[in-house]
Amino acid sequence: MTGTDLHTAKSLLISGEVVAIPTETVYGLAANAFDEKAVAKIFAIKNRPSFDPLIVHAADISSITKFAKELPEKAKILADAFMPGPLTLLLPKKNIIPDIVTSGLPNVAIRIPKHPLTQALLSQLPFPLAAPSANPFGYISPTSAQHVEDQLGHKVDYILDGGSCNVGVESTIFGFENSIPTIYRKGGLAIEDIENLIGPVQVKEHSTSNPQSPGMLKSHYAPGCPVILGNIEELIAKHQGRKIGVISFQKQYGDIDKDLHITLSEKGDFTEAARHLFSGMRKLDKLKPEIILAELLPEEGLGRAINDRLRRAATEE
Ligand code: TXA
Ligand code: MG
Repeated sequence: MTGTDLHTAKSLLISGEVVAIPTETVYGLAANAFDEKAVAKIFAIKNRPSFDPLIVHAADISSITKFAKELPEKAKILADAFMPGPLTLLLPKKNIIPDIVTSGLPNVAIRIPKHPLTQALLSQLPFPLAAPSANPFGYISPTSAQHVEDQLGHKVDYILDGGSCNVGVESTIFGFENSIPTIYRKGGLAIEDIENLIGPVQVKEHSTSNPQSPGMLKSHYAPGCPVILGNIEELIAKHQGRKIGVISFQKQYGDIDKDLHITLSEKGDFTEAARHLFSGMRKLDKLKPEIILAELLPEEGLGRAINDRLRRAATEE
C-alpha cells in the first residue's frame, strides 16, 4: 500500500517490518538498523547480496558519534555544512551497529536525509533506519513512490509517499582511506562543494565486481536494453531502422519520437538534469526501445554523478 500516514510507517517499523521511505536523493527500503531480523528482510526483498552493506539513516548529526568511533575534523566540517543533505559519511563503526548492516566491514555509512516526512519519521523512532535504495538489486534507483510500487509493491507492506525526489541521484559517499579524504561514490553533493571546505579529495572509481571497495559494483542502474554512450547524432545514423531511445543533456536530436527522447535539462542545468535522470531511464525502459543512445555531460558539478550513472548503465565491458 502507498500513503502518507506517518503513524502506519512508524508502527510497521517498530514491529520489525520493512517500509519504503522518501528521501531527497532516492527512495529507500528501510528497517530498524538495530534489529538483525528486520534488516535481513531488506536483503531478501531487494535480492541484494549479503556482502553489499546498507546506509544507516538518522534524524540529526548528534547520532554520528553514537554509531561511529571517531569523527575526524574534516568529516565534522562536512557534517556541519551538508547534513541533513545528500552526503553519506563512512566512519569506523561502534559495536551498537550490527554486522549484518555493514556486511561485516569495519566502517558504517551514516546519512541524515533532508526529506521532511522522513525527518519527522526518524525523529519519532527510537532507532535509526538501515536503508538501501528501494529497487531490485542492479536496477535503477526509484525517485517516486510509483517507481517503488512498480517493482516492489507486492513485497513491501507500506510505501511512504513523499512525492518526487528533489535531488534524484544517490548521496555522495565520503570517507577516509589511510587518512586520505576519499569520495567512494559520486552523488547528489558536488565534489567541488566538498573541496571548497576541506581541500582536495581523492575519488575512487567503481570496480567491476569488488564490493570491498565500498559500494562500487559497476553493473548498476541498468535498463533492460543496451545503453550506448557517445555522439548521439552519429549513433542515430549508425542505428537507423531500429527503435531508438535517446537520453540527451540539452538538445533534441534527429526525428526521434518525443516519448522516446529524454532531454534532461533544456536550459543545461545540472540539478534539473540529475532530478530527471532516473525517471527518464525508467520511462524509456517501459517503452522498450531496442537500444538507448546517450551522451555524457560536462565533467563538473553534478554532471560527474550523472556521467557515473550513465557509464554504469552503459553496455561496454
Ligand atoms: O542517497 C542514498 O544514499 C540512498 C538513500 C536511500 O539514502 N541510499 C543508497 O543506498 O543509495 P544503496 O545501498 O543503494 O547504496 C549505498 C552504497 C552501497 O553500494 C554500499 O556498498 C555502500 O554504499 N556502503 C554502505 N555501507 C557501507 C559500509 N559500511 N562500507 C562500505 N560501503 C558501504
Ligand atoms: Mg542502490
